[in-house]
Amino acid sequence: MSVKETIYPSRRFRGTPIIPGDKSISHRALIFGALADGKTEIVDILDGADVKSTAQCLQQLGVRITRSENTMLVYGTGDHGLVNPDSILDCGNSGTTMRLLMGVLAGQKIQCTLTGDASLRRRPMNRVADPLTQMGAHIRMTEGEFAPLSIAGGSLQAINYELKIASAQIKTALILAGLSSQGTTCLTGEISSRDHTEKMLSDFGVHLTLNSKSIEIRGGQTLRACKVQVPGDPSTAAFWIAAASIIPGAQLVLENISINPSRLGFLRVLQRMGADIQVEATSEQSEPVGRIRITSQPLKGVRVLKKEIPSLIDEIPLLAVVATQSIGTLEIEGAEELRVKESDRLEAIATNLRAMGGAIEMRQDGFRIEGFQKLQGTKIESYHDHRIAMAFSIAALVAQGPTEILNADCAGVSYPDFFSTLRKLTQ
Ligand code: S3P
Repeated sequence: MSVKETIYPSRRFRGTPIIPGDKSISHRALIFGALADGKTEIVDILDGADVKSTAQCLQQLGVRITRSENTMLVYGTGDHGLVNPDSILDCGNSGTTMRLLMGVLAGQKIQCTLTGDASLRRRPMNRVADPLTQMGAHIRMTEGEFAPLSIAGGSLQAINYELKIASAQIKTALILAGLSSQGTTCLTGEISSRDHTEKMLSDFGVHLTLNSKSIEIRGGQTLRACKVQVPGDPSTAAFWIAAASIIPGAQLVLENISINPSRLGFLRVLQRMGADIQVEATSEQSEPVGRIRITSQPLKGVRVLKKEIPSLIDEIPLLAVVATQSIGTLEIEGAEELRVKESDRLEAIATNLRAMGGAIEMRQDGFRIEGFQKLQGTKIESYHDHRIAMAFSIAALVAQGPTEILNADCAGVSYPDFFSTLRKLTQ
């Protein structure tokens, strides 16, 4: 079924929307809970399609999971381990589900096949499979790189591994495999991606040796069930933050958002562009949580460096939209990972901005946008990618005339109430 949403330009943008739970933290809480000894309680877990994919795969692997309203209970399998599923595990659209589960399954004495939707079946999995194979897992991929893939796990050996890509999915998969290996696994290289795994594992009673250059994981540690309070997702909040920064007169307050520094690159870049954004810590468990206030201000383009990319990887489509409404040039480099997300996001940004009458100079690993640009409402191809559908809905708010977002239902991957919230904030 193809769902189309029509977005009209808006001069008004105000409110205090409730931001759904963080997607990365929700996945991790489910997976760590499944491996732990005891019952894990996850409060305010994201009710999005990606997280449902993780929960469903875990249930097929023998994990009991119950839900009542905003809380999930996960009955961990502990020492008993996971069981052979009786059918293929479908990770849907979720790269995090597939890659994190690969790390888990590599260390379990079972055999199974993982697949996903057309987008996920085009995304590279060898980046996780190669190190897991070095540790002793048996993995067969389609065309040596893609899902469907089959995995037979068992006795793993610790390795020293240098991460070449700053990806929290790869890092987490290897930490999870390291926990069920013999010996101590040491990860070096590009380890400075989002650090929810490192923080949450400590709540589950796992000790990792962390410093700025390496992560050491001693195999054989037991996870102990705990309670996880999931904060609001800063990558979801980013849509409203972007809208509030480009609609004159806008005002927005967001409560209970994860203000983990490894996720706040987008806010830091907006502040450099001149945005009036205040971040105030309101509680500090293992994840820092806070309030974000934003009042619209004129913005100017800046240069975003490669080393900043991991902290705003999911917000780059939005940054392109914001750049069209700023004065001067915004330039991004080192963002080639965007080509292997739910869609080729660099291509999707270029095609859709140009369709709206905007101009963008593309490079293999980024782009350059000269502001200020007048955008025209048009038909937007979401490429079934949630972040593209939502980013161009924000562009639609400052365009002339209505914009149609095609296949807009993909927003449900991370934000099922996105379009109804958008309507409330612009009323
Ligand atoms: C995620 C890591 C990032 C991010 C994705 C969620 C995670 O992917 O883009 O939305 O939860 O670990 P990469 O690890 O591929 O950078």
